[in-house]
Amino acid sequence: MKALVLSGGAGTRLRPITHTRAKQLVPVANKPVLFYGLEAIASAGIKQVGIIVGDTAAEIQAAVGDGSGFGLEVTYMRQEAPLGLAHCVLVARDFLGDDDFVMYLGDNLLQQDLADFVARFEAQRARAIAPRLGEEGPIVPSAQILLKRVDDPQRFGVAELDTTGRVTHLVEKPTVPPSDLALVGVYLFDARIHDAVAAIEPSARGELEITDAIQWLIDEGEVVLSEILEGWWIDMGKLTPLLEANRLLLEGIERRVDGDVDSESQLHGRVVVEAGARVVRSHIRGPAVIGVGTEVVDSYVGPFSAIGPGCLIQHSEIEHSVVMGTSRVVNAGRIEDSLLGYDVEVTRSARRPRATRLMVGDHCMLDLL
Ligand code: TTP
Repeated sequence: MKALVLSGGAGTRLRPITHTRAKQLVPVANKPVLFYGLEAIASAGIKQVGIIVGDTAAEIQAAVGDGSGFGLEVTYMRQEAPLGLAHCVLVARDFLGDDDFVMYLGDNLLQQDLADFVARFEAQRARAIAPRLGEEGPIVPSAQILLKRVDDPQRFGVAELDTTGRVTHLVEKPTVPPSDLALVGVYLFDARIHDAVAAIEPSARGELEITDAIQWLIDEGEVVLSEILEGWWIDMGKLTPLLEANRLLLEGIERRVDGDVDSESQLHGRVVVEAGARVVRSHIRGPAVIGVGTEVVDSYVGPFSAIGPGCLIQHSEIEHSVVMGTSRVVNAGRIEDSLLGYDVEVTRSARRPRATRLMVGDHCMLDLL
């Protein structure tokens, strides 16, 4: 079993952050989202991982290296343009050979272990499902998809199942959804998928859709199994789910104080203060993480905040936010539900006349008091 991790794409829904950064390296609970996926792959016992990269190739390669830090052997494959999830399988043809593989979207986060999902597919294939009346020979699944019940299936790829849980029909972002079962960004395939991605045509949005490839398998009589996910799943494509992922991951942290906290400061609950960080005359209410070398001075950091490395938070309040790193938030009042990139400066000066003075790049979003 190999893994194919998709870390290219355009990331338009997370602009302006993705103007300068790979979406998959945006930190949640102070760790790049892609790292959670790679760790899950490693703990499922998979070693050989192919990573699809696009314009942000250099940044992804610098962060992940040869994969040995995760116990993985990583091969990078360049996708010239984001031509769709199924196109990534085409690009990875030589790397994948005829092996079974798990395809994992590099901006997705799952609560559930990957190991169980992979083990069940391998067991099904080893055992082969008993034939039904009137069918010949054992039935071997050629794909297995993960589904999650959602309130707004119109926004996702949606699956229809028969009574045995086999997938009968898939449709991308339907106006009238056939079910509330959305496709989660983790798929298991055998080598038959290569025939599928070679056979399908680009969709109306010009992409080779993985839903079309899986539908092709079904139409060709292949067995596609499904599993319904119980735990949470987040597709980090936009700000709100990103903050939600940060909240869910911070829920799981343990208190750890490696930096300095002065006697006039208070830490409540599960707070991580990384090495070299300083907390001075401040109040931190967990779950929250203060990154390496960050200073929090005369400030309040509230629950579900992840402050990255090398920041200064002074005379300000921050809650339910991600600050990526080396940013300065000084005399800024109260900031909530926000995402700040690297080297951001948010200050309030005493200069008269009082005014909001901005230097804001393309696709930014400001919600003023
Ligand atoms: P998406 O979130 O579907 O696409 P995107 O990253 O281009 O974002 P947006 O829709 O906001 O423009 O992609 C899911 C994952 O798959 C993500 O990690 C990027 C990756 N991907 C590729 O590697 N190649 C592709 O051609 C596409 C479409 C996505």
